[in-house]
Amino acid sequence: MENIQDYTVLFLVWVISFFVVRFILSKSKSSYKLPSSPFRLPIIRHLHLLRPIPHQALHNLSRCYGPLLLSLLRLEMFTTGTGTSAGVIQWALAELINHPDILNKSREETDSTTGNKRLVKESDLPNLHFLQAIVKKTLRLHPSGPLFTRESTQHCKIGGYDIAASTRLIVNVWSIGRDPNYWENPMDFVPTRFINGSGRSQIDVRGRHYELLPFGSGRRSCPWTSLALRVIQTTLVGLIQCFDWKVANGKENSVDMTEAAGIALLMAQPLVCVPVARDIPFLTI
Ligand code: HEM
Repeated sequence: MENIQDYTVLFLVWVISFFVVRFILSKSKSSYKLPSSPFRLPIIRHLHLLRPIPHQALHNLSRCYGPLLLSLLRLEMFTTGTGTSAGVIQWALAELINHPDILNKSREETDSTTGNKRLVKESDLPNLHFLQAIVKKTLRLHPSGPLFTRESTQHCKIGGYDIAASTRLIVNVWSIGRDPNYWENPMDFVPTRFINGSGRSQIDVRGRHYELLPFGSGRRSCPWTSLALRVIQTTLVGLIQCFDWKVANGKENSVDMTEAAGIALLMAQPLVCVPVARDIPFLTI
């Protein structure tokens, strides 16, 4: 019995010292101006707020708490997975099926580039400005890595807030790509907004323009950006040139664009569609 009393006293001493130390530490940091933070639970802190789709949940939180919010997460869970390029091709094709006018315009560009006499080649890509715009547009609305992280090496100030050393910053690329402060009518799938008078785009996806960061930015940005862009563009233009696309459910322009739960941005209902070979003279034997 005595033992139990000893343990109880020890436990109480531990609890009281824990809260005293915590109080002293919070006082010493009180001169810090920290970003606002949602209510947190013990141990799991803000983890419960992240479900079911983390980038959407963080986007909604930032609407309540401001663009820079303090969130306490304890899991090393943000990684860029495989299947990123395949995911983007799937989203792009789904957008094209839902926007047949854009699909036709891209096909016209492809046909005029090849003279309608041959299959499109990788070396044609620099001349396919509309196709490039479609891919950028897809990466803006459906970045396969919607969140990437950074850590502050030293104490610094961002937007007037104190950010302590070793703070993990989560950049919500998905949310930035839909922000009406940077994009007019952000939800419209209008690739021409990426094309200026000379037919080229001023905005690129390689981390120089902070309103469009599907591959991250800086030294830790995606090292395979060029490969990914080539794979996506070459595959997509082949699908555009050679096939018409019908949705498997038979309804026109009706691909469901709902996002699946998870860290990588995938379609909730994987795209099921029927390729119908186009009547292309140079492919007919
Ligand atoms: C559409 C395709 C892709 C997208 C949207 C994408 C996106 C990203 C993003 C957002 C990051 C984190 C960047 C940052 O922290 O600043 C990243 C990192 C990385 N990506 Fe990609 N990626 C794609 C394709 C690929 C491919 C095809 C490969 C490999 C063949 C690849 C390999 C990597 C690697 C190794 C890193 C880690 C770099 C580091 O931590 O230093 N990615 N990617």
